[in-house]
Amino acid sequence: MSAKPFHLAWFLQGSSVQAWGEPWTGNIGREWMVPKFFIEMAQSLERAGFDYVLLEDSSYIGESFKNSREIYLKNGLAVPRQDPSVVASLMVASTSRIGIVPTFATFAYPPYLLARLVATLDQVSSGRIGWNMVTGSSDYAARNFGLDGLPEHDLRYDMADEYMQVVNGLWDSWEPGAIVADRESGVLIDHTKVHAINYEGKFYKSRGPLNSGPCVQGRPVIAQAGGSPRGRQFASQHADTIVASVKSVQAMKEYRADIRARLVEHGRNADHCKVLFMADPILGETASAAQERKQLRDASIAANVEQRLAFMGKITNIDFGALDLDAPLGELKTNGHQATLDEFRRRAGNKSLREAVVGYYKTDLVGTPDHVAGQMAEMMEEAGGDGFLFSMPNVSRRTVAEVTDGLIPALQKRGLVRETYAFDQFRQNLLEF
Ligand SMILES: Cc1cc2nc3c(=O)[nH]c(=O)nc-3n(C[C@H](O)[C@H](O)[C@H](O)COP(=O)(O)O)c2cc1C
Repeated sequence: MSAKPFHLAWFLQGSSVQAWGEPWTGNIGREWMVPKFFIEMAQSLERAGFDYVLLEDSSYIGESFKNSREIYLKNGLAVPRQDPSVVASLMVASTSRIGIVPTFATFAYPPYLLARLVATLDQVSSGRIGWNMVTGSSDYAARNFGLDGLPEHDLRYDMADEYMQVVNGLWDSWEPGAIVADRESGVLIDHTKVHAINYEGKFYKSRGPLNSGPCVQGRPVIAQAGGSPRGRQFASQHADTIVASVKSVQAMKEYRADIRARLVEHGRNADHCKVLFMADPILGETASAAQERKQLRDASIAANVEQRLAFMGKITNIDFGALDLDAPLGELKTNGHQATLDEFRRRAGNKSLREAVVGYYKTDLVGTPDHVAGQMAEMMEEAGGDGFLFSMPNVSRRTVAEVTDGLIPALQKRGLVRETYAFDQFRQNLLEF
């Protein structure tokens, strides 16, 4: 590849119906329980050389909009949600190179359970598992697990730092070379190389060793999305890849520079964590066909402002249904996703809530595959790296094919993304360039 290549990933809205009500989604409303679509999608993304597919998750049904579950259930907004580990293992079984990244929240999985689950997935995938490491953002979710609510935002990250010490300790509880598997001596495992961790912290306690055996990759690829200052501090300490929701090139550049500086502060190599930025291109055979589709998408957002706000409310715990759609947004605070709310507020300026929503979901990546490939190249050139996370609001076999069989070949032609995987394992491919 001659130009500086970048990485690609896809953000899948959980294990479930993806884009209810959107055109070209076939019979997904009846077929979603059996994940044929997800499996085909993972295979298509692998054919296109993607680094990974990230499976979003939350473990509750939204009800922050007008204190009701109605809008969420009626419109399939982040519901249903199957357990991502099951679909992740089916995706693993039907692919051979792409990284698979299920989301597990630290408040919902005790560290031992998480370390064992993820190590098992890493083993059965021969080293292709990542973990989207999230701390959770909703009291509704916390109440499904016997808690009254989630701890305060920054405290969640303090707890998560400790959580990482426990799971890293458990993954290291098997020294390299512990598995002997020598028929002659009859020794399967060298017991001197498997150790208890006896971890006792402020929030967590675990004895170890891990009974699943070690991860193939030593530890899974850690994905993180903390966007607040405390979140970035956490992510830059632990993550191999960071996904960010900022969209303007200037913001991308600043975000990446900030993360890289923080990595160095932690004594890490700045190239060892890949920052991917969300992108939702609109593609067409011609520029005017793409523009027409953009108008359709904008019109659909304008007609469904409440649904978008319900979604935003779910991740920020704000009842947007109680606010006047035609008045400017006032001060808003959240114990949920702070960076997302800040970005929404920043882009809203003095606009009305309705206009703010329509503006927030607008995309500049519109045109033929070749044109969009050129736009992406310019953005990466300016931001400095490291790639894009596709987060399409209208996921279907059609939109996946538009990317994997339209846009990606155009990017490959420019030498901007890989054509084949260089390695077998996920982290190795992530560090290839
Ligand atoms: C692309 C992306 C994907 C995310 N996926 C999930 C997810 O699946 N589950 C979840 O609970 N939070 C998810 N988050 C939220 C983050 O983990 C984090 O809580 C959020 O970015 C707010 O962090 P902050 O409060 O530090 O800004 C995601 C965020 C982004 C930007």
